[in-house]
Amino acid sequence: MSTFGLIFCLLPLFFGAAFPAFLAPITTDLSSKRYMLRIYLKAPPQPANLVLDLGASFSTLVYCSRSHDSSFGSTSCKARYDSPGPGCSSDSLAMPVTDGRNPGQLGVIPGFVFACGNRSLLKGLVKGAAGLAGLGRSNLSIPAQVSSFSSDNLVFALCLSGSPSAPGVAFFGSGGPYYFLPEIDLSKYLNYTPLLSNPAGSTVINYSNPSNEYFIGLTAINVNGKAVEFNQTLLSHGGTKLSTVTPYTTLHSTIYRALTEAFVNESAALNLTVTQPVKPFNVCYNAEEVMITRIGPAVPTVDFVLQDDDDDVIWRIFGWNSMVRIFRDGVDVYCLGFLDGGPNPKSTVVIGGHQMDDNLLQFDLESNRLGFSSSLLVHGTMCANFNFTTNNNLR
Ligand SMILES: *[C@@H]1O[C@H](CO)[C@@H](O)[C@H](O)[C@H]1NC(C)=O
Ligand SMILES: *[C@@H]1O[C@H](CO)[C@@H](O)[C@H](O)[C@H]1NC(C)=O
Ligand SMILES: *[C@@H]1O[C@H](CO)[C@@H](O)[C@H](O)[C@H]1NC(C)=O
Ligand SMILES: *[C@@H]1O[C@H](CO)[C@@H](O)[C@H](O)[C@H]1NC(C)=O
Ligand SMILES: *[C@@H]1O[C@H](CO)[C@@H](O)[C@H](O)[C@H]1NC(C)=O
Ligand SMILES: *[C@@H]1O[C@H](CO)[C@@H](O)[C@H](O)[C@H]1NC(C)=O
Ligand SMILES: *[C@@H]1O[C@H](CO)[C@@H](O)[C@H](O)[C@H]1NC(C)=O
Repeated sequence: MSTFGLIFCLLPLFFGAAFPAFLAPITTDLSSKRYMLRIYLKAPPQPANLVLDLGASFSTLVYCSRSHDSSFGSTSCKARYDSPGPGCSSDSLAMPVTDGRNPGQLGVIPGFVFACGNRSLLKGLVKGAAGLAGLGRSNLSIPAQVSSFSSDNLVFALCLSGSPSAPGVAFFGSGGPYYFLPEIDLSKYLNYTPLLSNPAGSTVINYSNPSNEYFIGLTAINVNGKAVEFNQTLLSHGGTKLSTVTPYTTLHSTIYRALTEAFVNESAALNLTVTQPVKPFNVCYNAEEVMITRIGPAVPTVDFVLQDDDDDVIWRIFGWNSMVRIFRDGVDVYCLGFLDGGPNPKSTVVIGGHQMDDNLLQFDLESNRLGFSSSLLVHGTMCANFNFTTNNNLR
């Protein structure tokens, strides 16, 4: 490298500028309630949609062609992580850089390690998906590889869009700011709860690899501010998992029954009467009886009370995230979007995609904590409000 080139490369360091953070749009497939991350693969960069999997232990799973890749199928490569496929490969991955306001030019991460899936494995995915994007705790996950390339902090944030028309966004390597129109920095609205690497009670229930998933400490559930009564011991068995491949929050039968009873009870006070339910849900109301507000249907609030150092913190769920509209075959209802996980689930509670929509979630793996905003609609914005106009000065 020439002296000039060397000085040029070091300049950003002298000015203390951080290496760039990256972003990727996340589209929502409403029929399957799956989320797809749009990134760029190979050189020159080709856009690709990958199913977002918050808990996947492997890296990004894609189809690898043998001819393209010398490391394909090598056992040393496969042994480095828990890959469901036959091996791994190294290629470029690219995403736009960001200042938290706009996307900039594409930033290329060379030598990114991908997991290789065979065609039959990948065929089972959502239509239009080229593979799976793993965001789990493995050090080959997208956040981990981005952070080791850019020397950014190991932190990423997700804003899943509940709107069919416009995508949400993922930020990699940035602890904020996260600007959404009209000029709202959502990093200022975060509450924090510890991320638990191993769920309490994992000696009772056998996880194949629990440490790659994200768990938080749920201590109670409220409906309209009143504690739902159930055996709290259940919460310490198997923990509370966050999952982007679970469409609706799923709870242990005992907790599910207590929650729905309390919800029906509190709804009655709002003059809401349950109607014929629509599968897979059990509690539904005629849409014409439900009043719509800027935070969704006017129904009782559901709170997840979460662990914090001093005090508990509350993730409050309003109608937009608790209710699901079903409008087909002559029925038009809003149903409570929580599901019965049976009497013996692996995780007592799995928080699913519908409850995460239009909430900002920040996974800070340096401080081992989850930052959560609760509903963005309360703050007058939503995940679809990120300004995706490219700012070409950002590189
Ligand atoms: C594809 O991979 C899966 C998981 O490793 C395996 O069960 C399956 O047999 C493979 N299919 C083919 C056609 O190789
Ligand atoms: C993570 O990286 C370290 C250091 O490179 C390595 O020793 C370790 O085996 C890796 N862990 C996984 C799960 O790949
Ligand atoms: C947990 O499951 C794995 C894989 O099924 C098995 O090999 C292991 O022995 C089990 N561990 C315990 C403590 O049951
Ligand atoms: C609560 O659940 C635990 C574990 O399932 C059980 O051992 C305990 O007896 C239960 N307590 C009550 C009051 O039902
Ligand atoms: C339902 O409401 C009644 C009257 O307000 C109350 O006595 C009862 O405890 C409630 N039941 C549940 C499960 O919340
Ligand atoms: C419920 O309906 C009754 C009778 O129609 C009415 O008096 C009451 O104000 C209603 N309550 C609410 C919260 O709308
Ligand atoms: C979106 O970002 C572009 C580029 O920075 C800016 O010119 C535009 O005004 C922004 N749009 C809104 C609605 O603020």
